Amino acid sequence: MPKFIITGGKALAGEIEVKGAKNLALKILPATLLTDEAVSIFNLPDIEDARRSIELLTGLGAEIKKTGPSSLDIQTKKIKNSELSPEFAKKFRASIMFVAPLLARLGEVKFPHPGGCVIGAGERPIDLFIEGFAALGAEIKVDGRFYHLKARRLRGAEYFFTTITVTGTEAMMMAAARAQGKTTLKNCALEPEISALAEYLNASGAKIKGAGSPTIVIEGVEKLSGGKFTIMPDRIETGTFAILAAAARAPLTITKCNPAHIESLLAVFKKIGVAYEAGSDWLKITPAKKFKSYSIKTHEYPGFPTDLQASFTVLMTQANGTSMIHETIHDRRLLYADMLSQMGANIIMCDPHRVVVNGPTRLFAKKLTSPDLRAGIAMIIAALIAQGETEIDNIYQIDRGYENICERLNKLGADIKRID
Ligand code: EPZ
Repeated sequence: MPKFIITGGKALAGEIEVKGAKNLALKILPATLLTDEAVSIFNLPDIEDARRSIELLTGLGAEIKKTGPSSLDIQTKKIKNSELSPEFAKKFRASIMFVAPLLARLGEVKFPHPGGCVIGAGERPIDLFIEGFAALGAEIKVDGRFYHLKARRLRGAEYFFTTITVTGTEAMMMAAARAQGKTTLKNCALEPEISALAEYLNASGAKIKGAGSPTIVIEGVEKLSGGKFTIMPDRIETGTFAILAAAARAPLTITKCNPAHIESLLAVFKKIGVAYEAGSDWLKITPAKKFKSYSIKTHEYPGFPTDLQASFTVLMTQANGTSMIHETIHDRRLLYADMLSQMGANIIMCDPHRVVVNGPTRLFAKKLTSPDLRAGIAMIIAALIAQGETEIDNIYQIDRGYENICERLNKLGADIKRID
């Protein structure tokens, strides 16, 4: 089982470049199925989940040509089947993003319940996707673990999300883009990736208004064209590296990023005494020897992102004072807390969604397993500031969302060895 061996306590400094946003790439790739014309994608992150998406697309019949380390051309002229094989779909949750484009393009799609993260009670629910597709006129059949959706032509409808869902909003936007008539989506998620996906679809001829606001109105069109699209910087990588800088007291400059997408984190940095300067595409963190604790509650965008919650908890183990971390979006997203306390953190589990952290405490090396990609990167941050040699296995979970993380952090002075 591949693992990382991390020798903590090294002084880190320098510049780190942010890669393309994972949670946009995993929507743009399937969205290319909505047109039979050529699409060129740039600033694609080279991560496991993107590779799985590309494998899925190829398996469906797409012709894909790598045109550079982070760019490729995709032509989905010949889509030969409308079934997502469990072998691929089980590997990552974002396989669900293929359902809407296949349904809109072929009028039919078969897929297993998506797999991937351990977060989310048992399996991540997809009830809102199924209800949404039904609202657009799809016929739904479930046999065992397989869903079979059919719709000669999707018809525009009004749909209210009873829970705010990022991928649910994106899936319905894709399905409605080529439906007959007008669709109004209400109580939509506001994440920047949604606005970026709408921008991509509109550039291909879709008629989507209101993305980034709670109400999105889509006028269905017959056909979408191809085009060129550059993936925006990953806001979660940006926030993760900013938190690393503060926790490791490392003067880092984070480049090719968009600081405006992590305002919620930077507002907290101001309150706890971590200084930073920001430009339009860079962020310079000047770490503080001492900084205050601060309680956070994760929230849909623009609130504090759940994907930065684990890394922020590691930061709070080094802060002066008590903080409460309250995870409101996903179940089972505090699994790492126990491992942090084994490393010496003073963490009390109040209930499955809240932990109280008392800092500062010294952290000591431990043998760890990363339950999901965001807990995994939080363990790397903990290992980089801990005393001794930490071992982290199940690093596929980390490779799912962070390109070449080992080399990129070693360039800052870290000592991380990947043992395959
Ligand atoms: C997206 O997941 C991101 N993934 C997640 O990032 C992120 O944590 C999450 O949004 C919240 O920001 C991608 O974009 C690929 P949700 P998503 O649907 O869309 C419930 C990472 O680490 N729900 O917004 O799957 C759900 O259980 C990943 O990069 C239903 O009940 O999350 C959750 O409690 C992890 N029924 C809440 O909605 C549904 O049909 C919000 O989840 C769908 C969701």
